[in-house]
Amino acid sequence: MSREGTMLAVRVHEYGPPEVLRPEEVPVPRPGPGQVLVEVEAVSVGFAQTQMRRDLFPAPMWRPAFPIVLGGDVVGVVTETGPGVEGVRPGDRVGAYTLHGAYAEYAVLDAASLVPVPGDLDAVRATVLPGSGPIAMGTLGVADPRPGERVLVHAASGGIGHLAVQLARLAGAGQVIATAGSAAKRDFVRGLGADVVVDYGEDGWAERVREATDGAGVDVVLDSVGGQVLRQGIGLLAPFGRLVFYGSSNGGLDIPHISPMELIGIKYVTGFALSAWRAARPDRYRTDHKLLVDYLRDGAVRDVVHAVLPLHQVAQAHEIIESRSHIGRVVLKVGRNAEDRLST
Ligand SMILES: NC(=O)c1ccc[n+]([C@@H]2O[C@H](COP(=O)([O-])OP(=O)(O)OC[C@H]3O[C@@H](n4cnc5c(N)ncnc54)[C@H](OP(=O)(O)O)[C@@H]3O)[C@@H](O)[C@H]2O)c1
Repeated sequence: MSREGTMLAVRVHEYGPPEVLRPEEVPVPRPGPGQVLVEVEAVSVGFAQTQMRRDLFPAPMWRPAFPIVLGGDVVGVVTETGPGVEGVRPGDRVGAYTLHGAYAEYAVLDAASLVPVPGDLDAVRATVLPGSGPIAMGTLGVADPRPGERVLVHAASGGIGHLAVQLARLAGAGQVIATAGSAAKRDFVRGLGADVVVDYGEDGWAERVREATDGAGVDVVLDSVGGQVLRQGIGLLAPFGRLVFYGSSNGGLDIPHISPMELIGIKYVTGFALSAWRAARPDRYRTDHKLLVDYLRDGAVRDVVHAVLPLHQVAQAHEIIESRSHIGRVVLKVGRNAEDRLST
């Protein structure tokens, strides 16, 4: 925070390409009831924020007024608490997955959404804790794979996907099948422990998945891609199979309509939103968090970070994600270093 009580924030004044992300000096916000103010150390950039920026985000609950400061997985230190906040104090290191206000030096976060962040974890790495990690764990939690079942993970080299592959393995999946859009991504996903990796950009990818299961189909599909991939995934489900839809990276606002007739072979299709999971299963969310910290510490889960950029280069981070060139996560480092200040 500067002496005048201002900070660097990246704001969006109109929907559009990455250039609409504008670094600006703005007043530091104040926490309201039930909120805390956090000095941000790092924030990860995901595909969802690129859809928000383009006004292609499919979730109806996201409709903020301009100017918008986009959200993400934030890690930082609490500097102030609002009225009615209990159990969190200034100085606490915390993380949150937030829909708004993350691309800034200070972020106002709902106290109820905070997770503790161990002091010894590097801030960039720790951004996996509030959102990407719990989403990978939560989608698997909803699908609830039994030991030995076959799990298909789409977009498996992405920020969430690469964690889901490893977590499916740890959950005891009998076969982990993954999809990815380039040879380098497929090699990467194989290296994470996927048994079979398929290019879902090629015609006939679903047949190749079916062949890999000796014709049986899969028990679980984690789908963040949508469009035709979603429909083909339903076709791949074995009886009692569960497809969890949690993103529409290729379908955008074009979400397929599903007829109950497609499910007549005893197939389940459900959705997943982190906010709904956290509200419905708060204990599980907390247990998953502790487990994830342990997995990261002992190396059972490898969190791969593709690029780390300063906050003011967030447009470049969005370009990387939209070019589909990244493997793993893209993270912004935020701090009071000279690099991150605007030269005004
Ligand atoms: N439900 C929730 O609570 C929640 C919360 C946050 C994010 N999400 C969703 O989770 C998914 C993964 O997010 P992430 O942050 O891990 O993103 P990410 O790292 O950018 O990964 C997204 C992956 O989608 C694939 N993809 C397919 N079609 C694409 C297209 N047209 N443009 C760009 N990428 C495309 C890319 O892999 P290939 O090149 O291999 O195809 C890419 O690796 C997204 O759909 C996001 O919206 C859900």
